[in-house]
Amino acid sequence: MEKSYTAAPDRYVAASDRYTKMEYRRCGRSGIKLPAVSLGLWHNFGSVDRYENYSAIALEAFDAGVTHFDLANNYGPVPGSAESNFGRILRETGLGTHRDEMIISTKAGYLMWDGPYGEWGSRKYLTASLDQSLKRMGLEYVDIFYSHRPDPETPLEETMGALSDAVRQGKALYVGISNYDDEQTRAAVEILRRNGTPCLIHQPKYSMFVRAAEQGLLETLEREGVGLIAYSPLAQGMLTDRYLHGIPEDSRAAKPTGFLQQNELTPERLRQIAALNAIAAERGQTLAEMALAWLLKDSRVTSVLVGASSVGQLRANLRALHAPDFTTAELDRVEEILR
Ligand SMILES: NC(=O)c1ccc[n+]([C@@H]2O[C@H](COP(=O)([O-])OP(=O)(O)OC[C@H]3O[C@@H](n4cnc5c(N)ncnc54)[C@H](OP(=O)(O)O)[C@@H]3O)[C@@H](O)[C@H]2O)c1
Repeated sequence: MEKSYTAAPDRYVAASDRYTKMEYRRCGRSGIKLPAVSLGLWHNFGSVDRYENYSAIALEAFDAGVTHFDLANNYGPVPGSAESNFGRILRETGLGTHRDEMIISTKAGYLMWDGPYGEWGSRKYLTASLDQSLKRMGLEYVDIFYSHRPDPETPLEETMGALSDAVRQGKALYVGISNYDDEQTRAAVEILRRNGTPCLIHQPKYSMFVRAAEQGLLETLEREGVGLIAYSPLAQGMLTDRYLHGIPEDSRAAKPTGFLQQNELTPERLRQIAALNAIAAERGQTLAEMALAWLLKDSRVTSVLVGASSVGQLRANLRALHAPDFTTAELDRVEEILR
């Protein structure tokens, strides 16, 4: 058997095993299939985090058939450090020798550097940012380059034109959009199609607790043949057992660098979490597994994009792939709780 990578020989698995563990779903009407569970590097991969921990998470993911790793220029903290650290993993563990087995994405849209050209959607910003991202990761190209958020001031043609040109220049294979609402999505998809670089994928926030995607976006994406990858599918950890008994010291809500605010854990939220947890337990699952399975029951959802602060969490989330189907009664009870 050929050795896969060098950092963790004990966890080496043969490629044939790796790919039987995962379900792959076609991304819209494209040629690309994505793993039903993908790994996001927004938190836990920054300069404040430990290399031994996050490199183990990335390798564990790849071992389990998670072929898709999602980044953005600003992930860290500090901004840019998640890309640099991912580049280090690719180089030092040998994971990079598997480049052709991986879909690596990055994005530009949020504040990255000082001055008028360091955020939003200008051609100037997107083009410079992608060059920086490639340098940090040590890559010649990314698989997907996203506009991270719509820019109310820049003409959409300019932002989409910069994405399309990244493909023409060989710096990205596909383009995507994130945080665009239904109307903005329809306009972006139309421009990208005209440019000859169809939109591969949309990345909205979507979970049991955040359901804006159900207000037209899901239908639009299906009609247009664009995939959907749901970010923060565990509502940053709220849809897990993390906060069932208070706020653990090492949790995202407790960390100064975490984006989850403690005031989001209202008494009403905690009541919903406990009630959902009870349904999950009856189904023989954790809440995290149920929350991911709940998204994946919709075939329009190509992938759920999870974060993990430990190998154990990642493994737990992958168990969602073996979840039992939901009964109508269970789905009704979930709706009742979320109302
Ligand atoms: N496009 C955008 O604008 C955008 C915005 C946000 C995120 N994203 C993408 O989506 C990815 C995922 O976002 P996210 O990190 O917010 O996702 P998430 O999966 O909703 O939350 C991940 C966090 O939940 C906790 N967790 C995960 N699995 C757990 C388990 N089995 N049991 C207990 N706790 C668990 C961990 O927090 P603890 O630290 O408390 O352990 C973990 O860091 C990001 O990395 C990024 O790639 C994109």
